[in-house]
Amino acid sequence: MSTPTELHQAQVANWDGPMGEVWAASEARTDKALAGVTTALFRMADVEPGEIVLDVGCGGGATTEQLAMDVGSTGRVVGLDVSKTLIAIAEKRLDGTGQAEFIQADASTVAFPKPMFDVLFSRFGVMFFGDPVAAFANLHKAMKSEGRLAFACWRSTAENPWVGVPLRAAMTVVPPFPRPGPEEPGPFAFGDDARVTRILTEAGFAAPKFKQFDFTMNFDGVGMTAAMAVCGVGPLGRILRDQPEDVKAKALAAVADALVPFTVDGMVKLPASVWLVSASVA
Ligand SMILES: C[S@@+](CC[C@H](N)C(=O)[O-])C[C@H]1O[C@@H](n2cnc3c(N)ncnc32)[C@H](O)[C@@H]1O
Repeated sequence: MSTPTELHQAQVANWDGPMGEVWAASEARTDKALAGVTTALFRMADVEPGEIVLDVGCGGGATTEQLAMDVGSTGRVVGLDVSKTLIAIAEKRLDGTGQAEFIQADASTVAFPKPMFDVLFSRFGVMFFGDPVAAFANLHKAMKSEGRLAFACWRSTAENPWVGVPLRAAMTVVPPFPRPGPEEPGPFAFGDDARVTRILTEAGFAAPKFKQFDFTMNFDGVGMTAAMAVCGVGPLGRILRDQPEDVKAKALAAVADALVPFTVDGMVKLPASVWLVSASVA
C-alpha cells in the first residue's frame, strides 16, 4: 500500500507530466463543459474589486483570468499550479495583465511571506493532496484572518454519470484496473462532505458549508469525436493512456455507443454534480 507521501508525489508527477499535457490539450473543451459550474462558483465566491485571491490548481488560467477582472486594477490574483505546461499556458493567456501572476509550486508546501490572501479559490484544483489536512493547513497560513475559501469539487462518481457512463462502457473492454481508496487523492476524493468538513476544520478553516450543484456537461460532437472529448476531461483518459492501441480503440468505440442515448443535436449532454464549498478562515 502506498503512503500519503507516495500518493502525493504520484499526483504531482502526473500533473506536472502527462495529465498536465492532456488537460492542456483539452482546455477549451473543458472550459466549455464546465461553464455551468464556473458561473455558480464565481457567484458563491463573490470576489470584489481590490481583493487579493489565490487560485489553487489554476491550470491554464481560465478562472484566474476571470478573477483578475473581478479584482480589478486595485486587486491582485496569484495563480498557483504544479504543472509547468499549464502555468506556461496561463502566463501566455494573461500576459500584460498587471494584477495577475503565476507560481509553479506545490500547494501543500508553497510558502508566502505573510498572510496576504482574502480569498482561497479553486475550480477542481484541491482534491489531489496526499495529506489534505497538511496541505490546507499550509494554505491557511497564507490567508488573512478575515479571509474566506470558495472551491468546487466533484461529488461521488455515482452522482456523476458523465464519468460513470463512459467508465462502465470502457470496463467491458479494458482489463480490471485499480480504483482509488476513499482517502486517496484524485478527482473524486472530496465527494464525501463529512470527510471534507473534517479536513477543512482540522486545517484551521471554520464553518464549512456545502451547496450541491447539479448541471449538464456538454461535449461537442457525436460518435468517436464525442467519446474522445469525454475521455479527455475525465479519469478514463488516464486509464486508456496505458492500454495497447487496439484495446484503446475498442474501448473508445464502446464509449461512443454508450453515449448515443445522451446525444442531442450533435452534442453529448451528461448529468454532473459538484459541491460548492465555502468556509471562513477563522
Ligand atoms: C482538474 S485540474 C483543474 C485546473 C483548473 N482549476 C481548471 O478548472 O481549469 C487540477 C489542477 O490542479 C493542479 N494540481 C494538482 N495537484 C496540485 C498541487 N499539489 N499543487 C498545485 N496544483 C496542483 C493540476 O496541475 C491541475 O492544473
